[in-house]
Amino acid sequence: MIYKLIATATFGLESVVAQELKDLGYDNLIVENARVMFEGDEMDIALCNMWLRTADRVLIKMGEFRAETFEELFQGTKEIEWGEIIPENGKMHVVGKSVKSTLFSVPDCQSIVKKAVVESMKRTYKKDWFEEDGPTYKIEIALLKDIATLTIDTTGPGLHKRGYRGLSGEAPLKETLAAALVLLSRWNPSRTLADPLCGSGTIAIEAALIGKNMAPGLNRSFVSEEWSVIPPKVWSDIREDAKRRINTEDFRILASDIDSSVIKTARENAMKAGVYEYIAFQRLSVQEFSSKKKYGCIICNPPYGERIGEKEEVEKLYKSMGAVFSSLDSWSYFILTSHPDFQKLFKKRADKNRKLYNGRIMCYYYEYFGPLPKRRVEREENI
Ligand SMILES: C[S@@+](CC[C@H](N)C(=O)[O-])C[C@H]1O[C@@H](n2cnc3c(N)ncnc32)[C@H](O)[C@@H]1O
Repeated sequence: MIYKLIATATFGLESVVAQELKDLGYDNLIVENARVMFEGDEMDIALCNMWLRTADRVLIKMGEFRAETFEELFQGTKEIEWGEIIPENGKMHVVGKSVKSTLFSVPDCQSIVKKAVVESMKRTYKKDWFEEDGPTYKIEIALLKDIATLTIDTTGPGLHKRGYRGLSGEAPLKETLAAALVLLSRWNPSRTLADPLCGSGTIAIEAALIGKNMAPGLNRSFVSEEWSVIPPKVWSDIREDAKRRINTEDFRILASDIDSSVIKTARENAMKAGVYEYIAFQRLSVQEFSSKKKYGCIICNPPYGERIGEKEEVEKLYKSMGAVFSSLDSWSYFILTSHPDFQKLFKKRADKNRKLYNGRIMCYYYEYFGPLPKRRVEREENI
């Protein structure tokens, strides 16, 4: 069956998610705020859950219609053939949100949708009572400017839950955002990569997963693995294929931090992720960071100085980062921070900056592009 699918994304990352989908072979993408829409079958649901590094989740779009009254919401929801996906014993869990819409009471919308889904199921299964003791189907009613979008979640716990982060340092980055920072930097394993403020190691670990072409979902399960519409063989084929695709590339990523306790956490996380041997961890202050390598790449997420008492220290830190990074001849560097004066303190204007959200904190990703290694420049000029 062909489904309308939605890959949800954090604000600012839609184009990164769209590029990942293109690289996976999908076209006719519709990119909107916080989501990318595309079409696919059961195999595509498994594939996207397994491989998307920067999306939050993969949803099946069941219907979209205008709903300004509860009656319109009820009738529109009831018309949908929910039984095509939800089996007779499916557990129907309804969640909701409403933005700039006439129907603003989310609990009421949720219970209307639940009643209407059950009515549709009665039509399909010709019975009045459903036990709901089977697999879970999380239905979302999302109202935006009176347009109701109904979806079923295929992912379960968000895609950022790769399964390697038992432990985290202070203010860890979400794995999906860390992967996006790496993809945006255009780093590849032929270049040295360093995160000299690595905390729990998320950027280094995500970069190593990218470098090894390891599927981010390989060590976890997804809620739709329990569903009858996706045969178990689809999942086992996708998993086996993902294992075969891990490459033999060898590279070393440098991950350092001033705090030795977070380095210990980062090591444990890298071990769980299966990429420990590709990352060199070290306790080191960024002020001491140096390298003789050329064309390296720094990706980092320093403290933002948002907590009381931290501001002055962070401003000093940014000044010293500016001096250290600019002494690294031919390197590119990428810094994520919410600090409004970052460029002034760092004493260099970024080639490009991008608005991104780290949770609820609005940040900019400051991108400083150094020269590319010669062979790569020649190759790119020939394209
Ligand atoms: C926002 S956290 C990084 C979180 C990390 N991206 C993660 O996912 O866990 C900032 C890190 O910078 C480190 N740090 C602060 N000052 C430093 C310095 N002078 N040199 C090296 N690391 C420093 C802190 O110890 C902290 O782990």
